[in-house]
Amino acid sequence: MSDFIALWPQSASAYSGRLDLLMWIFTALVVALSAPVFVLLAYFAWKYRAGRDADRSDRVNRNTWLEISWALIPFILVVALFVWSTRMFFTVHEPPSDAMEINVVAKQWMWKFEHASGQREIDELHVPVNEPVRLSMASQDVIHSLYIPALRLKQDVVPGRYTSLWFTADKPGTYALACAEFCGANHSEMTGRFIVMEKPAFAEWLEQAGTDISLPAEGEALFRSNGCSGCHGPAATVHAPDLDGLYGRPVPLSDGSIVTADDQYIRDSILLPQSQIAAGYPQIMPTFKNVLSEDEVMKLVAYIKSLGASGEQP
Ligand code: CUA
Repeated sequence: MSDFIALWPQSASAYSGRLDLLMWIFTALVVALSAPVFVLLAYFAWKYRAGRDADRSDRVNRNTWLEISWALIPFILVVALFVWSTRMFFTVHEPPSDAMEINVVAKQWMWKFEHASGQREIDELHVPVNEPVRLSMASQDVIHSLYIPALRLKQDVVPGRYTSLWFTADKPGTYALACAEFCGANHSEMTGRFIVMEKPAFAEWLEQAGTDISLPAEGEALFRSNGCSGCHGPAATVHAPDLDGLYGRPVPLSDGSIVTADDQYIRDSILLPQSQIAAGYPQIMPTFKNVLSEDEVMKLVAYIKSLGASGEQP
């Protein structure tokens, strides 16, 4: 039995504990609902075997309530599990607003992690204990899937869109991290370490992994070096949308619809500028597809975010 339990992955968050509980209850329910069928199957096979003197008369004794109950009770239990698991699913996709942001870029065959203060790591993710962390993930090439068994979390990382996950790790330690979507020849080597640290140790690690350049600052440098400031800067003569206070604001588009300026909108505006044209502006923004990598775009998004939301400067 102890060997069997050792096969169970370690648990490093409150979420993983709740998910294990759901797993066990679901397993218990499935066994409770299907075991009687198999036990009775075996019993009747024995009872009515060829040559045995059993009562084979066709007795008509219906019990309506019994029949309703064995359809209805499993139905209610299964619906209850559905509601419970769906709520857990949504929990993972609704991060608290104070979550620490970490950008993730997947590419054949590595994981790149970028902390808000600019620290970068490859195939290793350091996080502080008991602090909500939100991962914003993009793929540079094909579909990958970030899998952290200790958190019981797995999320596809899809080219062309951002996906996200959040968690609060509650146990310091070193755990496994892997790609769970076949992504080419070296898929099996796309693994890494997920390291949960006590807060002072994490602060020290950040210090050591140090960089003086935060993500928004790196974004600002890219904003200048790629010529974005030529049109979007305060001194620009071209009629381009002002990006101050853009983040989180509703943007009217030329086709009459309104979108919210979130990470995805900003990314698409940089890489696929023809797809969503802000109302009242000419269609002159060039695409930066094949010019900027996903992590550079993430830095630009961080910079535009730092310009404040809804007109407020940070
Ligand atoms: Cu990346 Cu499998």
